[in-house]
Amino acid sequence: MTFILEAKDVHFQYEDGTMALQGVSLGIEEGKKVVILGSNGAGKSTLFLHFNGIHKPQSGEIKFADEKIKYKNSYLKNLRKNVGIVFQDPDTQLFSANVFQEISFGPLNLGLSEEETRRRVTRAMEETGITHLKDRPTHLLSYGEKKRVAIADILAMDPQVIIFDEPTAWLDPVSTVQIIHLLNKINEQGKTLLLSTHDVDLAYSWADYIIVMKKGRVISKGRPEEVFQDEILLKDAGLVKPWILEVYDKLLEQGMLRDSSFIPRTKEELLQMIGEKEIKVSVL
Ligand SMILES: Nc1ncnc2c1ncn2[C@@H]1O[C@H](COP(=O)(O)OP(=O)(O)OP(=O)(O)O)[C@@H](O)[C@H]1O
Ligand SMILES: [Mg+2]
Repeated sequence: MTFILEAKDVHFQYEDGTMALQGVSLGIEEGKKVVILGSNGAGKSTLFLHFNGIHKPQSGEIKFADEKIKYKNSYLKNLRKNVGIVFQDPDTQLFSANVFQEISFGPLNLGLSEEETRRRVTRAMEETGITHLKDRPTHLLSYGEKKRVAIADILAMDPQVIIFDEPTAWLDPVSTVQIIHLLNKINEQGKTLLLSTHDVDLAYSWADYIIVMKKGRVISKGRPEEVFQDEILLKDAGLVKPWILEVYDKLLEQGMLRDSSFIPRTKEELLQMIGEKEIKVSVL
């Protein structure tokens, strides 16, 4: 198994004494879609900031492509080219006067030509659906628009791994679906995606692998159908069951499904199970 990113027994304490990470060990497999779940303050954002060297563990280590990361400027510059983070709050990420300049900053900083930069920025704006915002001042954009600019920012850098800290929080339903489609497209291009979310339905349907954190520790890891069937864990982590599993469990409990070996991951799969007359409809 190849891990593109790895944390090994990472401990991290903020300056005010808050112990944010207390022995976190996990690996992110290359090319996968991984979700980190955990209630507010669990340590998700803190962990993410370790993956591109913004935070340095007090003890333990962070590895990228099987190499322990070094905290030298030249190493970090290269690391950040390969591991991009879309921050939870777009206001911490965006700082340029207008959208085009904002997205150009990364590629220009990598030393790419103006022509290549323009090509990348144009593509990133198309992919995130913000071409019409090109000349708008970033600070006047709505939250959802800023979020797209923040994603375009990172896409234009073309990193191998992209970390999204709550990419769909506060987005309207249509924007959420569009962002998820975009994430799938990026993953199909071969990129490893790691994201945090509080949306259990999204995590269950989307992730290849799920990691659950609580109070600075990893309390569970596994495939979505494993993690979300563990009622004790869900309660402990303050998570609820995805609605698709709730419905599936109910149908199963009532003996309404003939084949119980297939667990649906998406609404479409669940509807298909029902639509294919696997339900024994009681005729009055
Ligand atoms: N700059 C900081 N200084 C001091 N403590 C901090 C700082 N940033 C985060 N913390 C603390 O570290 C812990 C972990 O916070 P973190 O932001 O990593 O959690 P999170 O899982 O991302 O939460 P959320 O779901 O609310 O985004 C929390 O107790 C938080 O209060
Ligand atoms: Mg956070």
